[in-house]
Amino acid sequence: MSIELCATQPYSDQKPGTAGLRKTVRTIAQPNYLENFVEAVFRNVPELNGACLVLGGDGRHYNAVAIQTIIAMAIAHGVRHIVVGQHGWLSTPAASLLIREREAAGGFILTASHNPAGPEGDFGIKFNVAGGGQAPAALTDAIHATTRSLDQYRIARIPEVALDILGERNVEGTRIEVIDPVDAYADCMAQLFDFAAIRQWLDTHRVVFDAMHAITGPYARRILIEMLGAPEASVRNAEPLPDFGGGHPDPNLVYAAELVQEMHCPAAPDLAAASDGDGDRNMILGPGCFVSPGDSLAVLAAHLNRLPGYREGLRGVARSMPTSRAVDAVAEALDVPCFETPTGWKYFCNLLDDGRLTLCGEESFGTSSDHVREKDGLWAALAWMNVLAISGQSLPELMQAHWQRFGRHRYERHDYEGLPDAVADAVMDGLKAALPALVGKHFDGLEVTQADDFAYVDPVDGSRAEGQGLRVVFGHQARIILRRSGTGTGSATLRLYLEYFEAEPAADDAHLRHLAKIAESITQLCARSGRDGPDLRT
Ligand code: G1P
Ligand code: ZN
Repeated sequence: MSIELCATQPYSDQKPGTAGLRKTVRTIAQPNYLENFVEAVFRNVPELNGACLVLGGDGRHYNAVAIQTIIAMAIAHGVRHIVVGQHGWLSTPAASLLIREREAAGGFILTASHNPAGPEGDFGIKFNVAGGGQAPAALTDAIHATTRSLDQYRIARIPEVALDILGERNVEGTRIEVIDPVDAYADCMAQLFDFAAIRQWLDTHRVVFDAMHAITGPYARRILIEMLGAPEASVRNAEPLPDFGGGHPDPNLVYAAELVQEMHCPAAPDLAAASDGDGDRNMILGPGCFVSPGDSLAVLAAHLNRLPGYREGLRGVARSMPTSRAVDAVAEALDVPCFETPTGWKYFCNLLDDGRLTLCGEESFGTSSDHVREKDGLWAALAWMNVLAISGQSLPELMQAHWQRFGRHRYERHDYEGLPDAVADAVMDGLKAALPALVGKHFDGLEVTQADDFAYVDPVDGSRAEGQGLRVVFGHQARIILRRSGTGTGSATLRLYLEYFEAEPAADDAHLRHLAKIAESITQLCARSGRDGPDLRT
C-alpha cells in the first residue's frame, strides 16, 4: 500500500470551540492545515484503527475536498470501513444516528453550522465519538495539544473516490460504502412519530419547511413530501448549494425574516419550520406566532409521551444554563429530573448515554431527544407536527393553553457581534468583579438571589467545566446572563440572555423591556462596548 509519511509544521490555532474546529475556508485551505487536525484526531482516537468511521458534511464549499483528504488519511490509519454519505452529504443528526447504528468508532462531520459558506465563508470539522456524541472536552484538549507539536501526518496516495455513486468499493483493503444520506434517518423518524396521524393532519393543514439551501433539503423532501404526502411546495430552498445560495442559514427571526413575515399574513400555513446549514437547529412558527426555543422545549416535554417513540414517558430533561426555565416548570409538574448544563450540546451527551434524559434543548434553536447525540432540526419540526396532529388544536391555541397551565417565561437573546477582544474582556471582567456585591440588592422590585460565574460538575463522570457564563438570578422571577460565544471565527461576540417569568401571561413584553434596562445598569454592556444596542435580537 502506498502510505506516505508527510512532513508538516504545527499550527498554533487549532483549538476546537463550542462545536468543533471552526475556521474560515482560507484558514482551513492553508497547506496541511486540515491534514494536521485530522492526524491529531487519529492519534488521539486509536480505536479507529480496524474500526468503522462515518463521514459526511453539510455540502458547503470545501466539503468535497476535505472528504477526499479524510478518506485517504483514514485508510492510512487503518480504518477498516468508511461509511460516507452520497455527494459527501450527511446532516449532523443523521451522522450521529449512523455512528450509533453502525457502531462506528467515530465520525467526522464537516460543517460550520449556520455560518456563511463559500470560498469567503467558513468551514468546520467536528469529530464525534462512538455513540454519536461530540468529542468531550478531555479529547478536544488532547487533540489540540497534539496539533501544537505535530511534525508528520500519514496519508494513503489513492485516486479520488467517486462519491456520487452509491455502493461499496475496496480501496487498499478499506471498505468504502457510499450510502444514501437520508435512508437511515428517515426510517428512524418513521419509528419515533405517528406518520399515519401526521399524514391525515396534512390532508387539511398546510406546512412549510425552509431548508435554506443547506443540508436538510433532501431529508425534508423525502420525509415530508414522499413519505407524508405533503405538496411539493411544502419544502422550500430544498437544493443544498455550496454557498447556501449566498444566505445565512440560521433559522431565527432575523435570518428567516421572510418566513416570519409570511406567518403574519392571513393565509399563513398552520406550521412553518426552518433548519440551519447542517440540519441540527430548528425554528418553529405558527400563524401569527413565533415559538421561542425555550417554549418549544417545554411544550414538547409536556406532550412527548403521547408520541409513539416516547410512550414510556420522560426519564429526564435538560437545558443549557442560558435556556429559559420554561421546561423546568413542566419537569416539576411531571415530577421528572431537570438538568442545567453549560452551553454546547456535548454537555448533554453523558446524561443521555447514562439514560438520564429523554429530551434536551438550548435557547439557540436546538432541540432533540435520546435518538441521537446531536440536536435535530427536522426531528423538532416532525415532533411539532405530530403534537398538533393529535392535539386537535392550532399552534397558537396550544401555546395559550401551555402558558395558562405553566405560566410564561418571556425570553430574548441579544448578541453584540464584532467586538474587539479587549472590549469583550472588559465587559466580562467588569461584570464578574461586580457579581459578589449584587446578591441581596434590589432593582425595581426584583431582588438578586444569586450572582455567579456558572460552573458545572458532570453528574456522570465528575468532570468540571468552569467559566460558563455570568448569571444574575432574581429567584424564580427573572435572570440576566452574559457569556462570550465560543463558535466565532474572528472577533468576539457577547450574548446577553434575558428571562422574565409571568405566572399570569401578560399581553405584551413590557416586563422583558424593563428587565433589559436593569441588565444594562448591571452589566454596563452598551456603556462599556460603546454600542447603542445589540446587532441581533432573537
Ligand atoms: C452557539 C450556541 C450554542 C450552540 C452552539 C453550536 O454557541 O449559543 O447553544 O450549542 O452555537 O450550535 P456559542 O457561539 O454561544 O458558544
Ligand atoms: Zn448547526
